[in-house]
Amino acid sequence: MKTTDSKKETTTKKAAPKQTVAKGVTKPKSNAAAGLAELFEDSLKDIYWAEKALTKALPVMAKNATSPELIDAINGHLIETEEQITRLEKVFELIGKKATAKKCDAMEGLIEEGKGILEETEIGVVRDAGIIAASQKIEHYEIATYGTLRQFAETLGYQEAVTLLEQTLDEEKGADKLLTEVAVNAVNLEAAELE
Ligand SMILES: [Fe+2]
Ligand SMILES: [Fe+2]
Repeated sequence: MKTTDSKKETTTKKAAPKQTVAKGVTKPKSNAAAGLAELFEDSLKDIYWAEKALTKALPVMAKNATSPELIDAINGHLIETEEQITRLEKVFELIGKKATAKKCDAMEGLIEEGKGILEETEIGVVRDAGIIAASQKIEHYEIATYGTLRQFAETLGYQEAVTLLEQTLDEEKGADKLLTEVAVNAVNLEAAELE
């Protein structure tokens, strides 16, 4: 009986030490991350939610775009996004955790802003320019996130995860670059000529 109890004690998660928090400093929640491994897992859950949300948002953007180059860029990135979700599931597997999505407030806001731009622009090159602007904000958020995640994985010694996250990071950078090219070559000049 005694041995079972002591075994149980070693496998139970240690409670975070009570912290006294100075005025103006945010008090951590009871389940707050105590180490980098936990922060890594939490961040993975966030971006997993974000990528899933994007598989619903990107078709809306493609439907509202008129430039064939822009439609192709969005549809191409939708396929990549689906692969990125699978890659994240592999990363969860590598760290021995179940793939779980946790609402990402930032991505929810960025997608909302993108929808707002649709209402605020006439259909055609101006809406296309707005879609590009909103999409590039999303890509930059993803670039920042995957850059951090790759670094966390490296510090934690998950070498296979580093490779997977880096692959996605490169795709996000590629998507951003392609959007700039579409804006410069196919959309912005024409939009500037309209009143
Ligand atoms: Fe992505
Ligand atoms: Fe992306």
